Amino acid sequence: MTGGDTSPMNYETYILPHELPDVRPREIQPDPLRNDPDEAFFIRTHQAFEVWFAQILDEMSYARRLLAQPSPYYVPESDIPAVVKHIRRAAAIFDLVREHLPVLETLDTTSFYKFRKHIFGAGGTQSYRFRELEWLMGLLDKDIVGYTKQKIDLETRLAGGSDKKKKSGLSDPVAQELASVSHYQSQWDARWEKRRKQFLPDSFEGMTAAAAALQHRMTDLLENGSLRHHAMTWLARTTFPAPGGARPQAKYSDLFSHKFQQAYMKAHAGDSARLADLQGMSRADIAEIDRQARQRVKFFFRDPRRRAIVFLLQFADQPLLAWPASLVEALLELEQAFSNWRDRHIAMVARVLGGGRISTTGMAGSGLQYLRATLNRRVFPEIWDARSFMLSDDEAAGIYTRRQLSTYGFLHERRAPGAGR
Ligand code: HEM
Repeated sequence: MTGGDTSPMNYETYILPHELPDVRPREIQPDPLRNDPDEAFFIRTHQAFEVWFAQILDEMSYARRLLAQPSPYYVPESDIPAVVKHIRRAAAIFDLVREHLPVLETLDTTSFYKFRKHIFGAGGTQSYRFRELEWLMGLLDKDIVGYTKQKIDLETRLAGGSDKKKKSGLSDPVAQELASVSHYQSQWDARWEKRRKQFLPDSFEGMTAAAAALQHRMTDLLENGSLRHHAMTWLARTTFPAPGGARPQAKYSDLFSHKFQQAYMKAHAGDSARLADLQGMSRADIAEIDRQARQRVKFFFRDPRRRAIVFLLQFADQPLLAWPASLVEALLELEQAFSNWRDRHIAMVARVLGGGRISTTGMAGSGLQYLRATLNRRVFPEIWDARSFMLSDDEAAGIYTRRQLSTYGFLHERRAPGAGR
């Protein structure tokens, strides 16, 4: 490690360990708020998480920057592995900090209550880095709600019920997803709207670092968009095999959509026939199941970005599609790691606090109910949903000829036989 031309580096000047905040108990640092070893532990573990959250934000920003290359809007193939690397690292860090959560379970409830009285007014919801993570990933993007609403409308029509009845029935997982995301978005919209001039959200009153960071992030998102936004824009440019094996182009997505839906319905008919044999279902029942499947696949394939997800995942073994498909998988891994963190945090909160006593930020109960509702949020619902339409290799075999697919093979495989090197 060398710093500049003349001064050699050492661990202290490079890593700056002395700049870490000091939260040792009173015997060493006479601060009344820090005199309980359990409390010092509680504060330091939160700080450690914040350090990792900052790193995840950086990883997501790098990935976004690569996906949002300036005009002409285009991401070179050679940049996709780097996008995947940063997204996978963000997911790996989430997994790592999820594994750190059990350490807080060494904090027995009575020890926590000893210092909890100091905390009133403060709560994890005020972690601005966590909020930034959600925003940067894309949780404020309006098109998530649009897509989820369309899904509910479709399911309502298929069930033959009224929209109102279906939307109020929060037992439906899609309705819960919609309620959680749209509540989250409207909550933040309302806060920013109310304080547009100062750009300070209510719950960050007096938290100058949080207000400044969120203001900065909001401006960043308005100017540069979220990771979701750029991933979806990149997907929209996917090129699909052409008839006869000519150069793939985005305009052939209709052809893919048509052929894939045919193959999907054929595979579906096979499944429902098997079910009919097993359970002795009537022809009318089977026809109804098939009708619903047709409507669902038709709805999903309406959007070329959603077709692109299925196309990339279905033909991921084609050499030139392997990295784009890995990128789609990596986005899912990131969201799954985030969701697993939420889940583990909830289990930890339930163990330390239970669900009853008042929350330090004034939420109902201990805040557990709020936390459980956050589990339904999805930033990439289309990637999750695409799984429902995937086919086996055999079922997908008739969609393209070998020649068509070979346009996504290794470059040398595309040369005409005998053309030489
Ligand atoms: C004994 C340990 C912990 C307890 C009892 C606890 C409890 C809670 C509770 C009750 C909430 C609900 C809302 C609120 O009051 O703010 C919450 C939210 C939250 N906590 Fe914790 N927590 C603990 C540890 C941690 C740690 C180590 C982190 C890491 C920074 C963390 C990050 C968060 C975040 C980010 C939220 C907001 C989640 C969201 O809005 O989706 N918590 N926590």
